[in-house]
Amino acid sequence: MLSLLIVTLSTCAASAAIDKRLDVPAGYVAAPYYPAPHGGWTSDWSESYRKASLIVSNLTLAEKTNITAGSGIFMGRCVGNTGSALRADIPQLCLQDGPLGVRNSDHNTAFPPGITVGATFDKDLMHARGVAIGEEFRGKGVNVHLGPSVGPLGRKPRGGRNWEGFGADPVLQGFGGSLTIEGVQSVGVIATIKHFIGNEQEQYRMYSLVQPGISSNIDDRTLHELYLWPFAEGVRSGVGAVMVAYNAVNGSACSQNSYLINNLLKDELGFQGFVMSDWLAQISGVPSTLAGLDMSMPGDINTIPLLGNSYWMYEYSRAILNGSVPVDRLDDSVTRILAAWFQMGQDQSYPEPNFSTNTQDAEGPLYPGALVSPTGVVNEFVVVNTSEHAEVARNISRDAITLLKNNNGSLPLTRNATLKVFGTDAEKNPDGINSCSDQGCDKGTLGMGWGSGSARYPYMDSPIDGFKSRGANYTFFNTDSFPSNSNPTTGDTAIVFINADSGENYITVENNPGDRTSANLNAWHNGDQLVKDVAAKYTNVIVIIHTVGPILLEAWHDLPSVSAILIAHLPGQEAGDALMQVLYGDVSPSGHLPYTIPKSESDYPASASLVGFELGQPQDTFSEGLYIDYRHFNKEAITPRYAFGHGLSYTTFTYTNATITSVTPLTAIPPTRPAKGATPSYSTAIPPASEAYWPANFNRIWRYLYSWLEKADADAAAAAANTSTYPYPAGYSNVQKAGPAAGGVQGGNPALFDIAYNISVVVTNTGRRSGKAVAQLYVQYPTGIDVDTPIIQLRDFAKTAELAGGESQTLEVRVTRKDVSVWDVGRQNWVVPSVEGDYGVWVGAASDALALRCGTASETCEEGVASPV
Ligand code: NOJ
Repeated sequence: MLSLLIVTLSTCAASAAIDKRLDVPAGYVAAPYYPAPHGGWTSDWSESYRKASLIVSNLTLAEKTNITAGSGIFMGRCVGNTGSALRADIPQLCLQDGPLGVRNSDHNTAFPPGITVGATFDKDLMHARGVAIGEEFRGKGVNVHLGPSVGPLGRKPRGGRNWEGFGADPVLQGFGGSLTIEGVQSVGVIATIKHFIGNEQEQYRMYSLVQPGISSNIDDRTLHELYLWPFAEGVRSGVGAVMVAYNAVNGSACSQNSYLINNLLKDELGFQGFVMSDWLAQISGVPSTLAGLDMSMPGDINTIPLLGNSYWMYEYSRAILNGSVPVDRLDDSVTRILAAWFQMGQDQSYPEPNFSTNTQDAEGPLYPGALVSPTGVVNEFVVVNTSEHAEVARNISRDAITLLKNNNGSLPLTRNATLKVFGTDAEKNPDGINSCSDQGCDKGTLGMGWGSGSARYPYMDSPIDGFKSRGANYTFFNTDSFPSNSNPTTGDTAIVFINADSGENYITVENNPGDRTSANLNAWHNGDQLVKDVAAKYTNVIVIIHTVGPILLEAWHDLPSVSAILIAHLPGQEAGDALMQVLYGDVSPSGHLPYTIPKSESDYPASASLVGFELGQPQDTFSEGLYIDYRHFNKEAITPRYAFGHGLSYTTFTYTNATITSVTPLTAIPPTRPAKGATPSYSTAIPPASEAYWPANFNRIWRYLYSWLEKADADAAAAAANTSTYPYPAGYSNVQKAGPAAGGVQGGNPALFDIAYNISVVVTNTGRRSGKAVAQLYVQYPTGIDVDTPIIQLRDFAKTAELAGGESQTLEVRVTRKDVSVWDVGRQNWVVPSVEGDYGVWVGAASDALALRCGTASETCEEGVASPV
């Protein structure tokens, strides 16, 4: 341990040594992969690379290293602020959280988070939210939006940040993430897909002075088929940035893991943008550089930030001068960053930041992290939230609401129903809707979890606001203990609000350090008891749950008076009217569970529980492999309380008249990938030391990070230049590779995304009320193949428009080559295990409600078939 600390502290540039990884269980490998692939080889980025390379070839060493790192924590208006190259008109870039809206700002929309978006199963809403988020970030002058989050994937139901992503399935995450990216980037903002990768729990995630970050030990097949999948989709959508996670994978920190960054991300997935560290996730200088990291955020060293020390910036200049880092590595990083900037058109009158993440005041220190800072205007209170954005947010909140149970048609409510409303979750936080920094408390209506993925609410339209504006006949008991004065009367409808929260590790809420360690999967604030007490006195009880993820319902689910249960997920600012529209039947609920709800926590694989304290590096071994969430429940034949994808409506739908058409014929192995195109080429000579000298008479701000060196230091570094003395990692080579067979364009070999089968299905509303239906498509691999696969796996989905009773709509869904392949670890390629085999393509309303099967062998579809699970 001690040696690790010494290495961590001393891994700045010239003195760096390659740290020996700590042991992980046998079979979990992060094989070295060098060098970092140059970007620019796909045709869709070539023009941006051309523009970037013209600039890079004229930048000095110190200008280049200034662009690759932040100016220091709290050293600017945004949560991350790169250095500039003003001589070349390259401004500082503003990087800002988070996935659901502009964090720590004003006049922004607090959109519903990813988990709610996932529950809509609505691709149009996923995209519309991305556009709206992009418009707000652009309006605030943010260059780089730090979202979407598709990792954690949701392997651990108690994991703190699952709610920032779209659900416990790679395909749902894949669509949620890529449609968000396409929306955000359509208005010129660089999106950041995060956290790469395996960041499935909050505790022990970070490397610190006392402990290395947790190692997520993931085998190559599981990595490809589950955790990497949504990242591949994001890269395919042209995402401009990737943020690496805090944790290690297979013993090697994600920020310096060449297997992950160089191999999987930049070569196999063909990622053309830049890779940034999570905040203080960088733990070394040269090793992280060689492993493919392009940008250090916020720029400081991880152990003791805020003292003006960096692994990069001035140290990166030194490392180039003394030959520790090959010049082409720096040039590639800078080119990637500027290419992303050009790719989004940010060279064309892009707004400058007009807000501060550090304060709500109009004026304040420009560099709050500095000991002495100039002051000035930091918040200009630019209004970016529009009524159109609020409508997108409201529509998502509404269309995510998931009706789990509805006995005797107790929902929708009649206009004049007499309501008794219980639970503090029904009304705004009495201390103020933004009274807890980064929403780090669970008080009042729960619209989002806590941490960097939160935003300040411009308002909170609470459920009580909703009842009020409906003119509902209600009495509200703003308590989580059953009140003695509620006076139950025949004909009353009781509505109970409960919730479950979680968040990011740097805040502990009610003894939950991000992950739900204390609350477990139970409702917070004795919610179960409240429901039971209400159910003992009232005969018609409706339970409404705001939750970050799975929650146990068993304590009261089967009580005869509990007639209806709604999961309203996390509605952001739009909790009230969205819910009213569903409760009163203006619309039918159309959300579906983006995860399984179990009957007991012990129903999950034991390996998916939270890892506790361990001496040394905590080890989190993903030994359940592909079998997370519904894949596990199906394999073990465990009946959940509610299956993945479950969600009722006020009406009923049929799925009929399906057709399946083969489109691109399959072969066992995909056709040969296209070769890489040309990438920019620059001089590889070490630049003169003078390019890193401090400018004369420069007014330095103490603790601010700069890329210059004292003349003597720069000269000494240049004098020491001798690449042969640097202890390059095992397997190091500086010769660019052709790239793996599984690569080819952004996302991988383009043939992986060829459509193998098109499926159409007629969805008919067979009831009287109008409503929207979701068609979920799951693939079942043929029997008799020699590779183990989950029984069914979600591969696509589509949602109808609002259908009136009797109305039909034909939905189109598809199956790609990748959807019927498995990752063959030996061949390092996607292989179709049975080209002639009969894949079952199941379509229906939930993972356990599949009665329509199309067979790929017969190319016919059959209705009324027994569900495969
Ligand atoms: C750490 C979080 O993990 C990441 O998601 C966030 O973007 C950064 N902090 C910046 O706040």
